[in-house]
Amino acid sequence: GNQADFVVVANRLPVDLERTTDGERRWTASPGGLVSALEPFLRSRKGAWVGWPGIPDVDVDEFDDDGLVLHPVSLSADEVRDYYEGFSNATLWPLYHDVVERPVFDRAWWNSYVKVNQRFAKASAEVAAQGATVWIQDYQLQLVPAMLRELRPDLRIGFFLHIPFPPVELFMQMPWRAAIIRGLTGADLVGFHRPGGAQNFLWLCRQLIGLESTRGAVGVRSRPGTMQVGDRTVRVGAFPISIDAAGLDTLSRTKGVQERAAQLRRDLGNPKTVLLGVDRLDYTKGIDLRLQALHELLHEGRLQPDDVTFVQLATPSRERVEHYQRMRGEIEQMVGRINGEFSRVGHPVVHYLHQSVDRTELAAFFTAADVMVVTPLRDGMNLVCKEYVAARHDLGGALVLSEFAGAAAELSSAFLVNPHDLDGVKDALVAAITLDPAEGRRRMRAMRRQVLTHDVDRWARSFLQALGAEAVD
Ligand code: G6P
Repeated sequence: GNQADFVVVANRLPVDLERTTDGERRWTASPGGLVSALEPFLRSRKGAWVGWPGIPDVDVDEFDDDGLVLHPVSLSADEVRDYYEGFSNATLWPLYHDVVERPVFDRAWWNSYVKVNQRFAKASAEVAAQGATVWIQDYQLQLVPAMLRELRPDLRIGFFLHIPFPPVELFMQMPWRAAIIRGLTGADLVGFHRPGGAQNFLWLCRQLIGLESTRGAVGVRSRPGTMQVGDRTVRVGAFPISIDAAGLDTLSRTKGVQERAAQLRRDLGNPKTVLLGVDRLDYTKGIDLRLQALHELLHEGRLQPDDVTFVQLATPSRERVEHYQRMRGEIEQMVGRINGEFSRVGHPVVHYLHQSVDRTELAAFFTAADVMVVTPLRDGMNLVCKEYVAARHDLGGALVLSEFAGAAAELSSAFLVNPHDLDGVKDALVAAITLDPAEGRRRMRAMRRQVLTHDVDRWARSFLQALGAEAVD
C-alpha cells in the first residue's frame, strides 16, 4: 500500500470489529479515552493508524476509513490472552495505577508482549514513508520505540503514555524493568501527562540503564528534560491530554441533544437531582466508592431517595480479566442493595447500564446531570470530566472530581475529593447537590475557560512541536 508521512501506532484501531450473533461482522467505535482523543485529531491530518481490530485471529487488509488509512495488526487468541489481557492489563495496568490491584508477573506473558511489540514495530516500519513521523501510544507498546528505531533509523519517533507513570519504588518491582526503559528511550520524545511521571522516568533511566540527563527539570510550561542516548538526544516532558472541546460544545447545543436531555429527566421521573457517573467498568475508577458514599448518605437520611437519582453508565471493558469480573460483581451487588433498600416501584434510586452509549446520547446525559461524579483511585488524565465541562455551555451542573485524576491539576474549581476518604466524598456530594446556582456558574465558567482553551488539538500540536515534527506557532 501507500506509505504515510504521519503514522499513529496504538494497541487498538479507532474502530473495533464485532461479530454479530448472525455471524456477520461490523465495525463499531472503540472504547476508551485514547481513541476518543486522538481520532478527531488524526482525521484532520489524513494520517495512517496501525492497530489491532479488537478480536482475535482476523486478517483484514489495510483500508480507508473516511480519509484515515487503517492498518490492522492481527493477534492470535493466545496473544490476546497473554499480551493484551495478561501483560498489558493484569501486569502493567495495575502496576502503573499504584498497585490498586496486585500485578501478576508472568514470564510467558512477557514473552508474548515482546513478540507482539515486535509485530507492531514491523508493521509501522512498513507503513511509514522515508523520514516520516511515527507516534506510538500507551503502555501496551512500550518496546516499540527502540524496536522501530532499529528497523528504521530515518524516522522521527514519539511516544506518549496515556496512563500514570508510577512512583519509582513501584516500577522497580517489574522484573523486566530495564528492558521497558530501554524500549522507551528509542523515541526522540517520551511524553507523560504529569511532570512527576516524566521525573520518575528520568530517574529510572539513570538508575537502570546509566543514562545521564543533561537537563532534568520537567514541567508543563518549562522545557522538557533531555538525555543523551548514544549520539541521540531523547527529550522527556509532560503534555496533559484533552478532548475535542469545541465539538462537544457544539453538539450539546443542538436541539436533538437538548430534547433528549429533557426526555431523560422525564424518564427518570423528574427528580430534584440527577447524579451521573460515566466510566469504563474498571477497578481504578472508584465506582464502588461512590456507590458506597451514596448508600451511606441515603442510610443516614442526608439524602432522600425521592430527591436523587444516580445514573451509572459503565462501559464493558476487559471482561475476561479476573480483576474486572470481581469488580463488576461487587458493583452490581451494591446497585442491587441500594435499590433494594431505597427504591419504590417505578422509581429506582440507581440506574445502572452496563452498556456503551454513543456520543450524542452521552452529550444528553451530561446535559441532564446536575452533578457529575468522577472518583478514580488513580487515573492518568480522565477525559470524561473534561467532556462534562465542555457540554455545559449553560453553566449548569457541578463536578465532583478525584484528586488522583490527572485532570484535577487543571480543574481546581471542581469539588476535589480524596476518594479513599469516604466522609470527604459524602460531604463533597452534598455540597455539589446543594450548590448555590451563582457559585455553580462561577465554578463552571472557570473550568470551561480551561477546557475550551486547552483542547486535544493543542495537546497534539505541543507534543509534535516538541518532537520537531511541527512548526512552532
Ligand atoms: C485506556 C487506555 C487505552 C485503552 C482504553 C480502552 O484509555 O489508556 O490504551 O485503549 O483504556 O481499553 P481497552 O483495553 O478496551 O483498549
